[in-house]
Amino acid sequence: MNIIEGIMTRTSIRKFTGELIDEKQLDIILRAGFQAPTAHNFQPWEFVVVQDRDILQEIKDFHKYAKMIVDAGTAIIVCGDTDKQNRRGFLVSDTSAAIQNMLLAAHGLGLGAVWCGIYDREEFVENTKRVLKLPENILPIGIVVVGNKVEGRTPTDRYDEEKIHYNRW
Ligand SMILES: Cc1cc2nc3c(=O)[nH]c(=O)nc-3n(C[C@H](O)[C@H](O)[C@H](O)COP(=O)(O)O)c2cc1C
Repeated sequence: MNIIEGIMTRTSIRKFTGELIDEKQLDIILRAGFQAPTAHNFQPWEFVVVQDRDILQEIKDFHKYAKMIVDAGTAIIVCGDTDKQNRRGFLVSDTSAAIQNMLLAAHGLGLGAVWCGIYDREEFVENTKRVLKLPENILPIGIVVVGNKVEGRTPTDRYDEEKIHYNRW
């Protein structure tokens, strides 16, 4: 799959077979995260890989939009280090770029994945910090939920000419 095809055909996948992704696939997805652009090249990200079913269940218990997390079997909680990037906007931008890279890598590997947001829902942030025992300077931003998909989805074309502005609004 080339990069344009990958971008155009990625969709969120929320139904999983329950079969765990393999180590090599996980390694490629993580490496894709590290290749994202970051402001000042600070690379302020940290990745917490969760495959422990009890911990996945604990996340599912507080995150009402991540009910697929246990079936998927793998969750990568993408966090930002506030000591490395103190501008909150840049921290969110950098980690979001990493999340998107990982979603595309998962898609390229034929896996299913979905981005589950954490920041800036206060209760999701606090519960994630508690469950994962994150240090004070580590802010959880989002989860890449990834697994073997039951079936693919047909992407919709969202191109909208009216939202494109040339030179001035
Ligand atoms: C910041 C952010 C947070 C999201 N949080 C969730 C979530 O908690 N649960 C979920 O199932 N999908 C979540 N999504 C996925 C969106 O629902 C999905 O990307 C959107 O519906 C478009 O569908 P597509 O990804 O198939 O193109 C999130 C996406 C973003 C960018």
